[in-house]
Amino acid sequence: MQKYMIVGGNRLQGRVRAGGSKNASLPILAACLLGSGRSIIHDVPNLKDITVMMEVLQHLGATVKREGNTITVDTGSIDTFDVNEELMRKMRASNLVLGPMLARFRKVTISHPGGCNIGTRPMNLHLKGLKLMGAEIKERYGYITAESPTLAGTEIYLDMPSVGATENLMMAAVLAKGTTLIKNSAKEPEIVDLQIFLNRMGADIKGAGTDVIKINGVSSLCPAEHTVIPDRIEAGTLMVAAAVTGGDVLITNVIPEHFEALAAKLRETGVEVTPEEDTVRVKGGGPVGAVDVRTQPYPGFPTDMQPQFMALMTVAQGTSIITETIFENRFKHVSELRRMGADIKVEGQTTIIKGVSKLSGAVVEASDLRAGAALILAALVAEDGTVIENIEHIDRGYDRLEKKLGALGARIIRVHS
Ligand code: EPZ
Repeated sequence: MQKYMIVGGNRLQGRVRAGGSKNASLPILAACLLGSGRSIIHDVPNLKDITVMMEVLQHLGATVKREGNTITVDTGSIDTFDVNEELMRKMRASNLVLGPMLARFRKVTISHPGGCNIGTRPMNLHLKGLKLMGAEIKERYGYITAESPTLAGTEIYLDMPSVGATENLMMAAVLAKGTTLIKNSAKEPEIVDLQIFLNRMGADIKGAGTDVIKINGVSSLCPAEHTVIPDRIEAGTLMVAAAVTGGDVLITNVIPEHFEALAAKLRETGVEVTPEEDTVRVKGGGPVGAVDVRTQPYPGFPTDMQPQFMALMTVAQGTSIITETIFENRFKHVSELRRMGADIKVEGQTTIIKGVSKLSGAVVEASDLRAGAALILAALVAEDGTVIENIEHIDRGYDRLEKKLGALGARIIRVHS
């Protein structure tokens, strides 16, 4: 088990680059299955979740290689059509092979990804859409088998704008016969990036980023080359790190329009946020005011930034209310923040955070990647030392975060115990 040891109190200063997006890389790597041959994906972060997706593609028969942050995927010899439980349990997003495998090979079996620390995370919307396209779905013994002689374009209305369901259905529809409309689709930037990659492969998709995506099925797709968009959640985490330490940080390789909701909330607290074309400067130092947040599907305030923003509110002046509307169990970080002296009450999907003048170090545990990130941010401003255990969770979504924060002046080391 690995731990972080952090001594708070330093203001972060300097310049740091945000990496490529984990949540754009995962569906794009799965989409490589739709074409036969060698695709090349650049700026893919070196994270555990990406390694799992590479393992899944290799298990299916693809040849996958990483050189730095470039991954090549050769899908010319796919010879397996099932993803076993061991792989699925490692990462829910392995379910993103469902759409492409069904589209290209007409059959696929995956183990039910099961829930995780933030919620039950069912797949009913994915499966309902595939059934509407003509797939035969069997769910038994914890496995999902999807088969279809041919997928037919149709109109699908998503009961909720699920990111994964939108991505799986886009990838299923690109080789279907006819036109598919996905309505009430998720609008995240990662979905726009997937559309760009799929169209580079020869697909005919329009509308990603809006709530109606139109896909005209084509007969086949070719491999393609692509550079994934910057990770807006890593950028947001670094922005809050600057804010909570009262620092002055310039973050490069960002797309400011991808984190407008977060930037607006940070400004409301009194923090200076100055976006330029592909950078954003965040300058704290004054009092941080308490503000209320309600997570929403994009372009609303992202659920993936809720724990990190809560860490900031624990030391804000005043009382803030944070409501989580996307996942039913995404407050695991609250008990750990309380151990550091935070004053937080949980009432259902709402938390009431009363700002305290200081946090104190403690031994705390990361329960999922964003909760772990929130504990790092709290530790950066806590008095004396904090130990964060189970940081393998953090490694799933952040590429050596201690290196980036350390370069900005944070006192943080990784301990292998
Ligand atoms: C994606 O997960 C992201 N993961 C998550 O980021 C992110 O929190 C989430 O979208 C919401 O923005 C990746 O992109 C790999 P959803 P996903 O389907 O697709 C319910 C991180 O920190 N739902 O949009 O699994 C579901 O239970 C991760 O990087 C159904 O009910 O999320 C949840 O309550 C964590 N039925 C809500 O929708 C379904 O069939 C949103 O889920 C599918 C989802």
